[in-house]
Amino acid sequence: MSSTVYLNGEYVPYAEAKIPVEDRAFLFADGIYEVVRVYGGRPFDLEPHLERLARSARELRLPAPDTGELIRVTHELIQRNGLGEGTVYYQVTRGVHAPRAHAFPAGAVEPTVLVLTHALPPEALAENERRRHEGVTGITVPEQRWARCDIKSVSLLPNVLAKQQAAEQGAYEALFVRDGFVIEGSSSNLFAVIDGAIVTYPACNNILNGIARQRVIRDARKLGYTVREQGIPLEALTRCQELFVTSTTAEVMPLVAVDGRAIGDGKVGPVVRALQEAYRAATRA
Ligand code: PDD
Repeated sequence: MSSTVYLNGEYVPYAEAKIPVEDRAFLFADGIYEVVRVYGGRPFDLEPHLERLARSARELRLPAPDTGELIRVTHELIQRNGLGEGTVYYQVTRGVHAPRAHAFPAGAVEPTVLVLTHALPPEALAENERRRHEGVTGITVPEQRWARCDIKSVSLLPNVLAKQQAAEQGAYEALFVRDGFVIEGSSSNLFAVIDGAIVTYPACNNILNGIARQRVIRDARKLGYTVREQGIPLEALTRCQELFVTSTTAEVMPLVAVDGRAIGDGKVGPVVRALQEAYRAATRA
């Protein structure tokens, strides 16, 4: 929990940061968000995250967030909260709308803009490191989301239910299956190594085009791997050599079993190790 929060232009103590009960994000999940990882007090890939926030805003016809201001706020909060290892969370909503009505408010309504930080305690960092070293497990679940998964909206109920199902089955991630293809995780993008090539679902309306995903694709190509942006058929999970998910917080996370069946030889493979190393090098640069 951070001590200082940015809310609508002001820095306020966490306990005093209050959102009105008729904020449209509370009533309709009418808002967007971003999560940025901070390494050693420095935000990682901040610009692409804020560009995606601006894109999400455009797609939902929300007022454009002030990117320059959000960059300043990010650095200010990191400093005020003494954040070394952690995350910065950004949320923009369509503002307060009373009485409740589905259509946008008629007049100009100020958006609600919230930025807060979370420190990652050493135990959490160590646990993630252990997972990246040993690998984790996944389950598959049917796609139940809407047709605009490319927008990073706070409307996340199918993701929440899928992740909960994974948690209840002792798995790390739930992978959405759409039209016979495993497309992405509940909070991560999915990659498979099939016949030596790296395969990941194309960036389109069906998935969130992850910032970590884009970085890993660039790294993989630099390392000389072939990357194909195409669907991973569900049955390919039984014959792929490696499987992994990426996200801002998970980085490059190997999956060693899905639905109780081992991936490859059930051990973390060389492609994952090379991509983990490249990612780690970038976070240290
Ligand atoms: N989730 N796909 C989905 C559905 C996600 O929610 C996320 C990230 C990703 C990976 O995106 P990125 O590489 O930009 O983090 C893919 C964030 C971390 C979250 O909801 O907390």
